[in-house]
Amino acid sequence: MNILITGASSGIGKELAKRYESQGHTIFAISRRKADFENSYECDVADFDKLRSIVKEITKNNKIDMVIANAGISYPHSTAFMPFEEFKNTIDVNFISIHALLENIVPQMKENERGKIVLISSLAGYVSSPTSLAYSASKRAINSYAEGLRNQLSKYNIKVINIKPGFIESEMTTKNKFKMPFLLPLEKGVEKIEYAISKDKKEYDFPFIFAWVVKIVSILPTNLKDFILNRLNSSKI
Ligand SMILES: NC(=O)c1ccc[n+]([C@@H]2O[C@H](COP(=O)([O-])OP(=O)(O)OC[C@H]3O[C@@H](n4cnc5c(N)ncnc54)[C@H](OP(=O)(O)O)[C@@H]3O)[C@@H](O)[C@H]2O)c1
Repeated sequence: MNILITGASSGIGKELAKRYESQGHTIFAISRRKADFENSYECDVADFDKLRSIVKEITKNNKIDMVIANAGISYPHSTAFMPFEEFKNTIDVNFISIHALLENIVPQMKENERGKIVLISSLAGYVSSPTSLAYSASKRAINSYAEGLRNQLSKYNIKVINIKPGFIESEMTTKNKFKMPFLLPLEKGVEKIEYAISKDKKEYDFPFIFAWVVKIVSILPTNLKDFILNRLNSSKI
């Protein structure tokens, strides 16, 4: 398979791409730092024009079988009202870039009548953390996008797989100063992501218990939900 992945220079993306490469697949990697793969492109995914032209170039000569929109950013948790630039960058990198990434891939997959689009969302999309609201909003936006895209593309035999992990050890989580419940080692987390992709799971939340806790909190009456979120977050920062 030809696999195009963003954010393969560290963490989840790097581990996942390494696994696919060792299985004989060809990796096309996009990130700001040069990733350790033969076809590696240095690009800030928030530079939409550059991203679109790189993907256009790749798809001109290669049929992409699977695309993994994994690049993501999380600014340090804070109770302060976020500066506009950081807010915009979070939404641009985590969400808007996905549509730029897919612009030239979806038509190709439609033509081939097959393909897999993997989106790396987060359990953070279920409940919005007061100390990380841009990140939560970006991930909730992905969930909405995935739902619509999945049903838009199903008739072309294109699978949309939306993965919502809890905490996984990576550069992103090393920066967190609070205790992360159900934190998974990188290899374990990526193993679960690889499993979900292999089974074409439309939606995949993990780890199981943490995912259910978060999902139950998300459907509680607003006042009860706010009581829990305020308690959880007042001790965090
Ligand atoms: N770790 C967790 O607990 C967790 C949980 C749920 C979801 N996720 C999601 O999983 C994905 C991967 O995160 P991770 O934990 O592996 O974090 P990570 O180790 O910090 O990796 C993030 C990757 O995204 C790339 N990236 C960040 N900003 C970019 C930009 N502007 N342009 C291009 N590439 C960019 C980084 O590459 P460069 O720095 O080289 O650009 C890096 O390769 C993210 O979408 C994250 O939200 C993580």
